[in-house]
Amino acid sequence: MPAAGPPNYWDYLHLDQLLSIQDGLERDETQLKPDELHFIIVHQAFELWFKLAIRELRLARDHLAEPRVPEETVPHVVHHLRRVTTILRLAVSQFEVMETLTPQDFLAFRDKLVPASGFQSFQMRVLEVLLGVDMDKRVRYGDVDPIAHIRKLAETSPSSAVALGQLQQAMAEVTLKGALQEWLYRTPIRGSGPADPGDAAVVTAFVDDYLARVADLHARQAVAMPAALGVDPAKVGERFALATAQARSFLLAEDVPEPDRDRTRRVRAALVFIESYRELPLLAWPRLLVDTIVETEEQLVLWRHRHARMVERVIGRRIGTGGSSGVEYLDQTTAMRIFTELWTVRTLLLPRHELPELPEASFYAFAGGGA
Ligand code: HEM
Repeated sequence: MPAAGPPNYWDYLHLDQLLSIQDGLERDETQLKPDELHFIIVHQAFELWFKLAIRELRLARDHLAEPRVPEETVPHVVHHLRRVTTILRLAVSQFEVMETLTPQDFLAFRDKLVPASGFQSFQMRVLEVLLGVDMDKRVRYGDVDPIAHIRKLAETSPSSAVALGQLQQAMAEVTLKGALQEWLYRTPIRGSGPADPGDAAVVTAFVDDYLARVADLHARQAVAMPAALGVDPAKVGERFALATAQARSFLLAEDVPEPDRDRTRRVRAALVFIESYRELPLLAWPRLLVDTIVETEEQLVLWRHRHARMVERVIGRRIGTGGSSGVEYLDQTTAMRIFTELWTVRTLLLPRHELPELPEASFYAFAGGGA
């Protein structure tokens, strides 16, 4: 029921409730250990930011998952994702506050948390799921699957139902990665869309031209570099030949099962195309969108790194309250990448002056269509 009288600050924010829930397992703030209030508030602040990040991520995903995304919608996707990256950047810096907890002061109450752990942060899992983490391939500790773990807890603890409900809902939704791939798939390459007649030939010609330029540049670099550095030309030659083969394998989607190959080739070609001809008006925002997604993942990776360093400082390399190997497990998670193709493309981009000509440039002037 709304409060009587004019609105005031504390009613609007429900400060009475918000400020009364830092009371720990005892449900009594006076019973907390001296640094426990600090520990609880830092965690709660993180979880509030996660809540907003999840909402913004869903809004970005909704726009991008439209069957057709007009040019003017792309800035909205970027806008929501920028909020996510800004929140994550802020969250990274908040570990400084956590670090004012000394190892000894944490030990005074750490044991009572067992087996609770940030590993059970269902909002972090929702974030991962909505971004597009492949949970079957995700780093685990032992055989503990983060989702199955929450599922199991929900069997015995009624309060875990909220966690499970949120997770299940997220798992039924389109992910940002999925929406991005659909959108990339529809991106016109050399003026041709996937539904246009002869599109496969246009894409193949673009990929072939591009790979020829990559091979040519690598061949020249393989000669110039050893001469400049005075190193073994054979070794350098091998390295560049490998880089050329990897670029080829990636753009031809050789790592993907045959039935999905054509689709993946088009998605990857679109990525290279957007990154390469980004100064064309209709590609400027798409390029920014791709870059913002890379930034979002970069911030998440930095979050993982920063958390691991803070943990190392406070508890060293001991086993986590959730039973993992602690810092070792957390460091393994920093190697995970969700948007692998966006990262890989960076390895094979050509300088502007090495790019194949684009006779269809006028197609990408303003007043065209959206992907
Ligand atoms: C003194 C403070 C902290 C310590 C010692 C600590 C320690 C750990 C450890 C050891 C793990 C691995 C799982 C386990 O075995 O428990 C973990 C996971 C996690 N912690 Fe923390 N943590 C601290 C603070 C925080 C804070 C402030 C957050 C913010 C929400 C947080 C969020 C998480 C998340 C989301 C995971 C799961 C990571 C993953 O599975 O990828 N932790 N933490």
